[in-house]
Amino acid sequence: MTNTQAKTPPNCAMVLFGAHGDLTKRLVVPALYNLAHAGQLPKNFALIGVDHNDCTAEQWKKQLRDFLEGLTKGKGEAEENKIDEAVWKTLAGTMDYITGDFTKDKTYTDIKDKLDKNNGIDGNALFYLAVADRFFGPVVDALGKAGLVKEDGKSWRRVVIEKPFGHDLESAKALNARVLKQLKEEQVYRIDHFLGKETVQNIMALRFANGLFEPIWNRDRIDHVQITVSETVGVETRAGFYEVTGALRDMVPNHVFQLVAMTAMEPPVSFEADAVRSKKAEVFKAMHPVRPENAVRGQYGAGEIDGKTVQAYRDEEGVKKDSATETFVALRLTIDNWRWAGVPFYLRTGKRMSKRDTEIAIQFKNAPYTLFRETPVDQLDCNWLIIQIQPHEGIKMRFNAKKPGTEMALESVTMDFNYADWFKEAPAVGYETLLYDVFIGDGTLFQRADQVEAAWAVVDPVLKAWAAEKPKDFPNYASGSAGPAASDELLRGDGRKWRAIR
Ligand code: BG6
Repeated sequence: MTNTQAKTPPNCAMVLFGAHGDLTKRLVVPALYNLAHAGQLPKNFALIGVDHNDCTAEQWKKQLRDFLEGLTKGKGEAEENKIDEAVWKTLAGTMDYITGDFTKDKTYTDIKDKLDKNNGIDGNALFYLAVADRFFGPVVDALGKAGLVKEDGKSWRRVVIEKPFGHDLESAKALNARVLKQLKEEQVYRIDHFLGKETVQNIMALRFANGLFEPIWNRDRIDHVQITVSETVGVETRAGFYEVTGALRDMVPNHVFQLVAMTAMEPPVSFEADAVRSKKAEVFKAMHPVRPENAVRGQYGAGEIDGKTVQAYRDEEGVKKDSATETFVALRLTIDNWRWAGVPFYLRTGKRMSKRDTEIAIQFKNAPYTLFRETPVDQLDCNWLIIQIQPHEGIKMRFNAKKPGTEMALESVTMDFNYADWFKEAPAVGYETLLYDVFIGDGTLFQRADQVEAAWAVVDPVLKAWAAEKPKDFPNYASGSAGPAASDELLRGDGRKWRAIR
């Protein structure tokens, strides 16, 4: 998220661990292709895939090309959805492949050999860990042992680490300590793909580039905030990962908390990485650890979504018949600082819900009713500002307007800004900005060690309580619904109500 004009990144190599993985195919390589298309790849660039699968560079390129073709075809037959041959040729020309076991020294000597022989990259390299989290520690150790992450003052070495960063507070601390034995904090890029979404980045623009919102962005004017990340997909083919992870770990201390931080942070003094990250870290530190009575868990049963019958979580392939893994979570969160004291943040996320919908909804305090006492208006609807993240991308404002006519009657109306109406959509998978930022060394959109640990600390009491006591009512929501009844209760107790998922 460069604060200057887009510039060509410095020459470098990108070593991609997990070259045959899903993430590589679906997001990393398509993002590199889009960067190549936009002319934003380094002039001299080398993409070195590493994985245990025996294959040649040519075979690897072909697999990626086929996959990319499938992705672009899925978007329709229009000319702009076709692969641009010249762009693909440029990208493919940078690709090389190493067959290697992530736990063997030989893999790292092979990588070193390739890097040492490439004069064009000026000694710069980034190592991208698109691998299962159990390899994060071992790969970083091995990179350190092989001398691959040593910087010489002229060139740089960076490591990108995917989520999940730890499994709880203790393991996140241990992983940070292990990683920081080999690397300086500035060399570590802990990725959270939600921060690659344009609409998430736009929250800072909305708040800090407009004089309109900031004066009302506090406990004087805001009643509460609701953040919803609802998905229609189920566990898909990821039962192995999801069974031991669950919705809380998978979504909350990372993606959902990033939305909270963007909404709640104080204005930073600049867009410098540490200026922004320190303000976000302050939000995490001001969050009260969530008490288990302020948390609700759910698991989907069978149901119907978009007219299709779908099975219960416990019937999905690879899931235990008596699984206690939650696929839904709702929390009441409090942020104890000057701006937010007394303003609850209600968070919910779940799989197999009625609609795909990610939004931040801010409810403002009501205007005084006094003036309307003598009119047919029996109550004033509250005002909402709704930041829509996906699939709709935009900002909505709901306020009361007078209905035309002789009587004073009100109706709640919506003012709607849609991204697509204003900006020509650029092809993006959400990783372009993040990768570009790693190339240019801008860590603003990446998580610092203290942020990660502070976020885990907030959910730790709930993780512990849930591990100690198995749920008795699973499955407790039907696929295609808005989650379990207990989630509604959580707000009803405070005299509030979730917005409908739409
Ligand atoms: C991932 C989670 O990090 O984010 C998935 O592991 C989830 O379970 C996904 O589905 C949601 O991301 P997006 O970009 O599709 O909203």
